[in-house]
Amino acid sequence: MRLDVVTIFPGYFDALELSLLGKAKQRGLIDVHVHDLRDHAHDKHRTVDDTPAGGGAGMVMKPEPWGEALDGVLAESEAEPLIIFPSPAGEVFTQRMARELAEEPHLVFGCGRYEGIDQRVFDEYAARGRVRLVSIGDYILNGGEVATIAMVEAIARLVPGVVGNPESLVEESHEDGLLEYPSYTKPASWRSHDVPPVLLSGNHAAIAAWREEQSIERTRRVRPELLSREQRGESRARHAAE
Ligand code: ADE
Repeated sequence: MRLDVVTIFPGYFDALELSLLGKAKQRGLIDVHVHDLRDHAHDKHRTVDDTPAGGGAGMVMKPEPWGEALDGVLAESEAEPLIIFPSPAGEVFTQRMARELAEEPHLVFGCGRYEGIDQRVFDEYAARGRVRLVSIGDYILNGGEVATIAMVEAIARLVPGVVGNPESLVEESHEDGLLEYPSYTKPASWRSHDVPPVLLSGNHAAIAAWREEQSIERTRRVRPELLSREQRGESRARHAAE
C-alpha cells in the first residue's frame, strides 16, 4: 500500500518509523511518502495561509500550494488514489472504515491546519477523483497530523503481513461490534488480585463463554449504543410500547 501525506509538519510522521509500522515500512508492505506543503509555497516566507474571505477569526490555508502539492502526488500515482482530508467536519472514522481503506492501493492524506483549507481544494479534487473528509472523533485537534497518524496506524495494521499473528486482529474491540474482554497473564495472583479461575481451568468452551459474557457486559456498561436491542436485553414489546 502506498501512503502520501501532505503537511506543514513532516516531523510528526517520524513516529511511523517506530514499532510495527516501522517494520512494515522496512519490509516494503507500506510505502510512505511525506511531503512538506511549504515546498509548494513560492514567496519569500513560504506562506501557506491567508485571512478568510468574508472576514472572521483565524487563517485559512491557501489553495495554490495545495494544488501544486496534490497535483504532484497524483501525477506519480499508478492507481486512482483516495484523498482523505482529516477534519472535525468529516464522517467519523471507525474500524469498519479502517477495513475498507486497508483495501485501497493508494491513500493520500492532506493535513489541514488553522481554520481549515480553502473549500475550492476539496471541490477541485472531488471533481477529478475520490475525496473524503474524515474525523477521528468529536473533539478539536490543532491540525490533521495526529488524526492522520491514528488513521494510518489503524489502516496499515490490517494490511496483510503487517501484524505477525493475524488471529490477534479478530479478537479485538470493535472487530465484532463489541468491546474486548479483559486479559490476564501470570502470576495467577498479584497484590491479592486473582486471575479469574475459569481462565486457569483449561476448559476452552467455558473460557470462550466467559469472554463473550465479559465483552457484552463491558459494552453494555461503557458503550450501550453498540449493542443490538437483543444484546441489551430489551424486548421488542417494550420498545414497541415506548
Ligand atoms: N482536525 C482537527 N480536529 C480533527 C478531528 N477530530 N478529526 C480529524 N481531523 C481533525
